[in-house]
Amino acid sequence: MIGHRGASGYRPEHTLASYELAAWMGADYVEPDLVITADGALVTRHEPEIGGTTDVASRPEFADRRTTRTVDGEVHDGWFVEDFTLAELRTLRAVERLPHVRRNNTIYDGHYGIATFEEVLALCARLSARLDRRIGIYAEIKNPTYFAAAGLPLEHAVVRALRDAGVDSPDGAVVVESFETAFLRTVREELSVPITQLVEQGTVPADLVATGDPRTTEDLVTPEGLAEIAGYADGLGPDKDLVIPRDADGKLGTPTSLVADAHAAGLLVHPYTFRNENHFLPADLRRGDDPSGYGDVFGEYAAFLAAGVDGMFTDNPDTAVAARDLRGRLLRESWMMAG
Ligand code: G3P
Ligand code: CA
Repeated sequence: MIGHRGASGYRPEHTLASYELAAWMGADYVEPDLVITADGALVTRHEPEIGGTTDVASRPEFADRRTTRTVDGEVHDGWFVEDFTLAELRTLRAVERLPHVRRNNTIYDGHYGIATFEEVLALCARLSARLDRRIGIYAEIKNPTYFAAAGLPLEHAVVRALRDAGVDSPDGAVVVESFETAFLRTVREELSVPITQLVEQGTVPADLVATGDPRTTEDLVTPEGLAEIAGYADGLGPDKDLVIPRDADGKLGTPTSLVADAHAAGLLVHPYTFRNENHFLPADLRRGDDPSGYGDVFGEYAAFLAAGVDGMFTDNPDTAVAARDLRGRLLRESWMMAG
């Protein structure tokens, strides 16, 4: 199981505290999203704009950094990581991204700083020793085309960070993922780590847009597209709807052939993102009217495990691990009954 942005159902995302809690909850991997500072440091934020997950808006010393930028075709107003040095980012504090859905998490606002990738690597090494099992890192590289245009190519920074840390290995301790295909092809040439191609229904990877490549995600997930992905990647990270779409009423529908097609191409399948709250669940799995209340996430996990996925990105690693263990126990019991 992969702790999505750590254990972001319980702590502000992408903080060391969030990653550490994910490991203690049983996650096999923690998932840092990586962006880059003005002075070339890899730090863990979900997007270039940092106003939604830090207290930068309340800092008068950075008021003049507020600006408008277009990221992968979308206009954003706020503060952008590439305008800050690491030393400046160090002065900021992380805050909960979804205060209305995750009100309890807001008690941690201001408790934690912005983590560097180096710190995540060190944390996972420490946790692996402490918990006596490997805590892997499933690192998503965010917006390579955008950052390259800003003069901050991510390829060199990522390759250098993994080599310097001594974790450029096919053993799976570190997996590299991205939505951008060209970035992953470069990583395949430079590094020996496993690679996952992320895909999102109804979108086009930014590198394909930039080069005028007419393919969309829907083309990438055909059997032919998957065979091509398998030429440079080991896994596929689809959004959940590509595996089990919701029907017209918003209920969990019927699985597509994606898992079987990806497996036939030799790719593992790790869909995203599983979350306990009603707000994120299919209509038939919600319980009560409170969007922030927990619904039947175990029903959702069970459906995806039955569909044959190999792992899942989850904001709630504890429930994902419980669901996986329950399925294992039920399968063992059914074999015993049959025998
Ligand atoms: O890496 C899987 C998932 O994290 C991709 O989506 O937007 O949550 O980074 P996002
Ligand atoms: Ca991610």
